[in-house]
Amino acid sequence: MKTIAVLFGSRSAEHDVSIVTAIASIIKPLELAQKYRVEAVYITKEGVWLWDDRLKDISLFTSGKIDQFIARCKPASVTFNGGLTLNRVGRLGRVESRKVDVAFPATHGTYGEDGALMGLLDMAGVPYVGCGLVASVLAMDKALAKILAQAHGVPVTKFQFFPRSVVQNDISAAVKACTSKLTFPMFIKPAHLGSSIGISRATNETELRNGLEVAAHYDDKVLVEEAVQNLIEVTLPIIGNDELTPAYLEQPLVKAEDFFDFETKYMGGGKKAGAKAGGQKGAQGYSKIPAELPKELYKKAEEVGLSVYRALDCSGIARVDMLIDSKTKQVYFNEVNPLPGSLYAHNWRAKGISNVELVTRLVDLAEGRHQKRQSLSTIFSTNFLKQF
Ligand SMILES: Nc1ncnc2c1ncn2[C@@H]1O[C@H](COP(=O)(O)OP(=O)(O)O)[C@@H](O)[C@H]1O
Ligand SMILES: [Mg+2]
Repeated sequence: MKTIAVLFGSRSAEHDVSIVTAIASIIKPLELAQKYRVEAVYITKEGVWLWDDRLKDISLFTSGKIDQFIARCKPASVTFNGGLTLNRVGRLGRVESRKVDVAFPATHGTYGEDGALMGLLDMAGVPYVGCGLVASVLAMDKALAKILAQAHGVPVTKFQFFPRSVVQNDISAAVKACTSKLTFPMFIKPAHLGSSIGISRATNETELRNGLEVAAHYDDKVLVEEAVQNLIEVTLPIIGNDELTPAYLEQPLVKAEDFFDFETKYMGGGKKAGAKAGGQKGAQGYSKIPAELPKELYKKAEEVGLSVYRALDCSGIARVDMLIDSKTKQVYFNEVNPLPGSLYAHNWRAKGISNVELVTRLVDLAEGRHQKRQSLSTIFSTNFLKQF
């Protein structure tokens, strides 16, 4: 039986969301597949790694007993001996070890989805599910993702970006750069954060100035972009390495004024509005699956999603968000989520792909990508050292 290590939690604002993704959408279906040995590896908010079967039980986290558990549990360690091996001190002080065949990151945000964990797994030389290091880094930087998408001919809204130091030392220059190149309304965002943290919308210079200050408080890079008018938002989950399978384009039914609200996105706060509009409950409240768009526009948005996935060299799974101007029918790329919450399993189910099939396919894709990468030569013989 192959050993799959599901890694979750970590030092991120989205720590708690990751616990739900890992346990409900990854560990359970992997176990139901009955062909893997599934190891739960929980990374605490302090960055300590714990490896224990009891971490597969969501009630440990929902009951609040997790702090006590962390205090008592001995930290696990990992070693890189031709792959990745988990180690822990078991009962009677004996060290238990298990070699991992495939790692399954279930981490959202910093220290997990942003490439940090992928770098570690690359160093270990273990196959892992989802996007690689470079795609993860690009996807988690909204400015870099836009630059790359644009270079591949994908439409993005007009934008500017600044390092925090510019905002802090010469905010007037940043304001001027925005007002001379962009038109109001504008959105101001921390470049690396999700969950609408630190995002604001500005309709004049004062609001822009405030928005820049807020975003620079949260991040070392600030992105400013023109607002898309007559907005329809859609998102497209995609799986695959070379051959891509899109799920349905999905249209979140969240009111624009709630856009910054974490509750609405993750805690089901969008329930009432969505229920009335007849949507389905998904990872971010209610949504329409598939999105109700004219056929041409649907196709266009799907193509934008697939182009972005390819442009960033995503692999395994990712979700591409787009903003549509319903009057001009222009589709703009907004952002990529390399590890969509709950894997967007509700959308895959609608598409006829069960949770079990989804995680099984993702494990296969991880192994496929790893094999391909191994065929790249990293060993070069030279005479360089002989001259010393
Ligand atoms: N350029 C834009 N035009 C119109 N609405 C936008 C724009 N950028 C962001 N928004 C709104 O703000 C929300 C959050 O922005 P987004 O870049 O998706 O950040 P997050 O990472 O928090 O999801 C979007 O879902 C959308 O409702
Ligand atoms: Mg978003």
